Amino acid sequence: MNIYLIGFMGSGKSTTGRKIAASLRWNFADTDKLIEAEYGMSVPEIFAHRGEKFFRDAETVALRSISSRARMVVACGGGTPCSEENISIMKETGVVVYIRLPVAALVNRLEKSRTSRPLLKNQRGAELTVTVTELLNQRSQWYERADIVADGLAMTIDDLTGQLADYIRSSGAYL
Ligand code: S3P
Repeated sequence: MNIYLIGFMGSGKSTTGRKIAASLRWNFADTDKLIEAEYGMSVPEIFAHRGEKFFRDAETVALRSISSRARMVVACGGGTPCSEENISIMKETGVVVYIRLPVAALVNRLEKSRTSRPLLKNQRGAELTVTVTELLNQRSQWYERADIVADGLAMTIDDLTGQLADYIRSSGAYL
């Protein structure tokens, strides 16, 4: 059994995932980092030189490889759960947590972030708000298929970890 963290760019999947992994003493993985290591290129470089389709295929390969392991806390890229194949892999091999945040909070975080995100093209302000709103509208149908939806503004790591521990035990798996 693994834990998959999903949600929009800037929702804090990696930070939250590392903390959950530390408190459960599970291993942590980040799909973007695995892909970057595999190809020796940053995510923006992969988008620029190989294109988005190549990156999306690499996400599925990375996910398949992680899903064969156990007790992994996996921070997924914002687009990772947005295909039937990928969401199915996650749901079949673990518990999926959506960290949900409103558009305004996402925009605020993304404007402060130093991570380069090809889909956002360095946008700011009103332009960024439009892009985030549109993309989140398209993606919510995937994100909402999570087993647990965490309120990204109000959640505490302890609460979320407790909720996950209950979920894992109730599904018959071991912590
Ligand atoms: C993407 C999110 C990014 C990264 C890539 C594409 C997306 O990850 O995978 O830039 O499609 O939402 P983060 O969610 O960690 O920023």
